[in-house]
Amino acid sequence: MKILGIETSCDETAASVVEDGKRILSNVVVSQIDIFSAYGGVIPEVAARSHLEAILPVIDTSLKDANLTWDDIDAIAVTHTPGLLGSLLIGTLTARTLAILHKKPLYPVHHLKSHIYANWIEKSGIKGQIRGETTSLRGFPEVTTEEKTPKPRDDGREGRRSPEEVVSASELMEKSVPSFPLLAMVISGGHTQILYMKRHNHFEIIGTTHDDAIGECFDKVAKILGLPYPGGPSISKSAKLGNETKYKLPHPKVENLDFSFSGLKTAVLRTVQKELDLPISHPSHDLKNHLTEQQIADFSASFEKTAVDILLEKLSLALKQHPDVKSVVFAGGVSANQKLRKEAGKLKGTEIFFPEPSLSGDNGAMVASACFYEIESGVKPADPYRINILPRSEIK
Ligand code: KG4
Ligand code: ZN
Repeated sequence: MKILGIETSCDETAASVVEDGKRILSNVVVSQIDIFSAYGGVIPEVAARSHLEAILPVIDTSLKDANLTWDDIDAIAVTHTPGLLGSLLIGTLTARTLAILHKKPLYPVHHLKSHIYANWIEKSGIKGQIRGETTSLRGFPEVTTEEKTPKPRDDGREGRRSPEEVVSASELMEKSVPSFPLLAMVISGGHTQILYMKRHNHFEIIGTTHDDAIGECFDKVAKILGLPYPGGPSISKSAKLGNETKYKLPHPKVENLDFSFSGLKTAVLRTVQKELDLPISHPSHDLKNHLTEQQIADFSASFEKTAVDILLEKLSLALKQHPDVKSVVFAGGVSANQKLRKEAGKLKGTEIFFPEPSLSGDNGAMVASACFYEIESGVKPADPYRINILPRSEIK
């Protein structure tokens, strides 16, 4: 089954064709990052206008990259919730129109579900698994698949698998698919949640943030330190040159499996003011002008360590409370974080899954994959004349 997935919930215009929920045939992402790094954050009205410009060429390219025509497409999936109102509208209205025009079943998909299902997409690096290369349009930064090197071999023979040694899909799926019940840690710009999944398409929220999301916290701390938007990658880059034990930042005291990140952001602000010997009243936007490169790196490293520790402490508690859990999947933009990937790898007693780094952020492939598993779980297509967008909604 070939599904066209369309994603426009924030500042990426993306479309992808995925076969049977796992095999990427094409993956096109046009990012607006270079527009918004100039402003220091997303401007919803500008994002919606950019989606409008990019959406049809992006969909067209996703079909061309996959060497397919509309006749080959079995269904259309689109993000309809949650996200920026204007951005969601462009993707959803386009998908509705195309579904009516080409007589295709249409499935509205929840954005967090899509992030989770990025973990079911086959990893690249083994020849023949990704047919369509990720494409970028109009000079936007190219989104590429980072993991190009062959996988270590697991068949008892010396050395690494050569790219020519194509692993059969069933062999790979057996080894690389999360098992149920599982915990999904959704960490993005808008959400921080731990979910318990008993089976496919079944979600129970067991922890959530009381205020800011973790990605939002990365973005706000980056702003204080004068690092470019989006904050996650720029903090990580700067942290590589810093000392993570230089500044002691607090862990929020939140009950159970819930999170809070607004206090951590304020703690960074106060520590910077203290370090610079400036009063609380000193404007936060000016602090960056007084910080040295080394101080910025030390703050980045100390903040990144604290954020990763908080996430993994809650995850350990969740695993203790749910001893039946067989796998943990990380999902959302922050799951690209290398320090998190390294530290999570040390967790004992459970299998850990991260999406391919290029599929951690917003993309159409994860929408198509989530849709496939919805269909497998018996979800019926929606009426293309009636699908609505919802800027806010919980995963169901
Ligand atoms: O999932 P996503 O692309 O969009 C939403 O659904 O929100 O997540 C975007 C967030 C941003 O806050 C960005 O700073 C963060 O993901 N992010 C990272 C990294 N890459 C992106 N945070 C930490 N480390 C990264 N490497
Ligand atoms: Zn997202």
